[in-house]
Amino acid sequence: MTQTAPVQKTRFFGISKILRFLKPFKRVMLSMAALGLTTSIIDVAIPLFQRYSLNHFIKGNTLDTLPLFLIIYILALAGQSFATYVSCRNAMTVEVSVNRDLRHAAFEHLQTLSFSYFNQNSVGYIHARVLSDTSRIGSLASWSFMDGVWHTSYLIFAAVVMLAINARLALLVLIIVPLVAALFSLFQGKLIRANREIREINSNITSNFNEGITGAKTVKTLAIEEEMDRRFTAETARMRKRSVDASRLRGAFAATMNLASSVALAIVLWRGGYLAENQVGTFSMFMSYAQGMMEPVRWLIDAISDLITTQVNIERFTNLLAVKSDVVDTPEVVEKYGDSFCPKKEAWEPLVGDIEFEDVTFRYPDGQETVLEHFNMRIPFGSNIAIVGETGAGKSTLVNLVCRFYEPTQGRVLIDGRDARERSQLWLHSSIGYVLQNPHLFSGTVRENLLYGNPNASEEQIRRAIELVSADEVVARLENGLDTDVGEGGDLLSTGEKQLISFARAILADPRILILDEATASVDTLTEQKIQAAIDKVIQGRTSIVIAHRLSTVRHSDCILAVKDGKIVESGTHKQLIAAKGYYYDMYTRQYEDEEAAKILG
Ligand SMILES: Nc1ncnc2c1ncn2[C@@H]1O[C@H](COP(=O)(O)OP(=O)(O)OP(=O)(O)O)[C@@H](O)[C@H]1O
Ligand SMILES: [Mg+2]
Repeated sequence: MTQTAPVQKTRFFGISKILRFLKPFKRVMLSMAALGLTTSIIDVAIPLFQRYSLNHFIKGNTLDTLPLFLIIYILALAGQSFATYVSCRNAMTVEVSVNRDLRHAAFEHLQTLSFSYFNQNSVGYIHARVLSDTSRIGSLASWSFMDGVWHTSYLIFAAVVMLAINARLALLVLIIVPLVAALFSLFQGKLIRANREIREINSNITSNFNEGITGAKTVKTLAIEEEMDRRFTAETARMRKRSVDASRLRGAFAATMNLASSVALAIVLWRGGYLAENQVGTFSMFMSYAQGMMEPVRWLIDAISDLITTQVNIERFTNLLAVKSDVVDTPEVVEKYGDSFCPKKEAWEPLVGDIEFEDVTFRYPDGQETVLEHFNMRIPFGSNIAIVGETGAGKSTLVNLVCRFYEPTQGRVLIDGRDARERSQLWLHSSIGYVLQNPHLFSGTVRENLLYGNPNASEEQIRRAIELVSADEVVARLENGLDTDVGEGGDLLSTGEKQLISFARAILADPRILILDEATASVDTLTEQKIQAAIDKVIQGRTSIVIAHRLSTVRHSDCILAVKDGKIVESGTHKQLIAAKGYYYDMYTRQYEDEEAAKILG
């Protein structure tokens, strides 16, 4: 289900916070404003032309100055068309460029956020911030800005011209404006409520649809197709009903508006007839302005409510940019080692691979319980450590702390004898190869995925890496070998295949610290044995941490840590722990018996 994070209240209009994104387009926007003014001046001038032609040519019954009149008239119209074309082109440029910059800023910022942000905010929520909020802001800065200048200046210029020509008739026409505006806002309130409801239903439909697709397999295994279909149908039926209601409302709105403007015009006709005293040209000019003002007034009322909703988009977007990662490099560290986007690799000390937990207490930012309490552990450089323990014991948490994906609530994690926080995250991450419990591949080919581990790897290095982790057979089975497309998230491959590819990817990076979190959980026993042999080879000269449920795979580790409820309950070699006949011994014999029983039972 889509989780929506609360919108934090900001004290002032959030637009000031996105001004920096508009700054590069200051000149284009100024030219849009100038062109908008030009367009509206010509708009206001057209009724003046009509007035002149009626008064001069028709009433005066003459054709003198007609050629000049026509030339100026045509030039004005051509100028207006050109101004409109350039404005639209500029607005389009500003819209797409602002969108691009906002999305880029959001994406770059998201990459700096720690794991906990992604745990706390759903993909759908982040998606909406990056895509729909940015597009609302982009269109505000371009089209709304252009239309705003155009419509507002039209109203002002038209009012000035009317007042200058016939003040009494002008006041009569201008009185219509607030009346029409009041009527507009009355309808608009209802329309906004209707549209809001439709949007809510629409997002329910999207979320049902998403769940139906992403959970398609689960839907089938639970045989709940009918239930899912019923829910979807109910929502779409509600959507249809509300949309029809809203269309009716819109129709009534349009009809009432037409009626209102006709009535308003009739009043002008009736009263204006006396006031204009036989001046047909002036009278027709007033009629044009009275009609011409309807659209700008409607637009302005719309714009006010749009601005209110867009403010929410702006606030949510700027709040996203303001989210601070739980794990940040201090300014001194960034100064010395650079950040994730501009690393200063020349200043990086080589990472040796000595890890130490010093009195570490840890609770997840959104977690209820303390996972680790006063935890101490030392993993000397080059050693091969295995972590075993029940589900939820805290094994993945330990390696997440080693990788500094989270930071201890209290205590320190030392890398090569120094607090991990003293050096940049990228420095550490560049030297760690981590095969996650749920491996993820990016869409693209197997080769492209492997190259994420080391963009400069040669064909030979790629071949050796896949051979080393026994992924060569898997790759050979794929239709196009290394050039096979793995699908979104690698979903065209099996979980075991994904694990092997991500293992090869980690090896290709030649990391100082290698972490395997249940890296062989989804492969068959034969492949596992091969991987085991590979692990024995690749851990030479590196520090490695292997988390495994199947204890037979960690027998050869230098040291096995048995973890229970976030504490090391036992540690030692396989032999020592078996001899101790404690927690590990119990786990091992239980598993061994199960495996033997399984063998006997065939
Ligand atoms: N992101 C999180 N937010 C809050 N609590 C979490 C989070 N991840 C794990 N936990 C909690 O921390 C505890 C340890 O989890 P951890 O993932 O380290 O277990 P594990 O030993 O790796 O288990 P498994 O063998 O199932 O992978 C569990 O109680 C879990 O509920
Ligand atoms: Mg785990």
